[in-house]
Amino acid sequence: MRIVVLGAPGAGKGTHCKRIADRYGVAHLSSGDILRRERAEGSELGRKAQSYMDAGSLVPDDLIVEMMSNAIQKAGPAGFVLDGFPRTVRQAEALDGSLAAAQSGVDIVLNLQVDDGVVLDRITGRRSCPQCGAVYHVRNMPPKVDGVCDVDGTKLVQRPDDTEAVVKNRIETYYRQTEPVVDYYKAARTVHNIDANKDADSVAAVLFKKLDAFAAKRGKTPAKADASKGTKVR
Ligand code: AP5
Repeated sequence: MRIVVLGAPGAGKGTHCKRIADRYGVAHLSSGDILRRERAEGSELGRKAQSYMDAGSLVPDDLIVEMMSNAIQKAGPAGFVLDGFPRTVRQAEALDGSLAAAQSGVDIVLNLQVDDGVVLDRITGRRSCPQCGAVYHVRNMPPKVDGVCDVDGTKLVQRPDDTEAVVKNRIETYYRQTEPVVDYYKAARTVHNIDANKDADSVAAVLFKKLDAFAAKRGKTPAKADASKGTKVR
């Protein structure tokens, strides 16, 4: 399965892509996570991306397309779920081009729709594990012990681009540069709009219903019957 998950910052892309990866056995390819890893490692790509990410702007297309093409090539035969990519029409065209060259294409596009007011609360309340990438929310999805990762006991941190000022720019950037990607996909295929304002388990149930139906058409069954506890992996 080759799945694209679209949505504004804080829509729940990372949360649900992790659950999708667990359930269907596909690789979770998050452009944001890969960039953060590159930054932590001090690579040239990480250094180039830094100022854009800190300002809440998009990293240039050429860098992202090359980075994600490499990640897709390394994904296993079960396929992948793309989280945060493509984020511009140019990136979507490049993705279609490289998949077509390999006689394949995107199978299903899921668009998580969320209100702006919800986004701000979700992002400013997000806490992440710097070790394993698990994602929590101080109220909606708190860890068992306050401020500590359930998975490996590491102290949770707030992402540097999760401040109110940067989030506002990320939302503006989304409307200007990423929302047109929804129309790009709509021109050629069905885009499945999902109401992502609901609680995470309700959103996951709707996503799984759509993906189960798609997988059944291909004669596949989910890798796991239920992956209700989602955490983000890198
Ligand atoms: P990236 O890391 O992709 O950030 P984003 O798109 O802004 O998305 P977020 O990670 O903030 O949100 P999400 O939708 O994954 O929500 P989450 O599941 O965590 O990108 C960061 C930066 O990298 C960009 O600004 C850009 O600079 C650069 N970049 C990345 N990709 C790029 C590309 N393709 N091109 C160019 N530049 C790129 O959930 C958020 C919170 O809400 C969590 O606390 C979670 O617990 C909670 N939550 C989730 N769902 C629910 C729910 N249903 N109910 C209640 N709470 C929920």
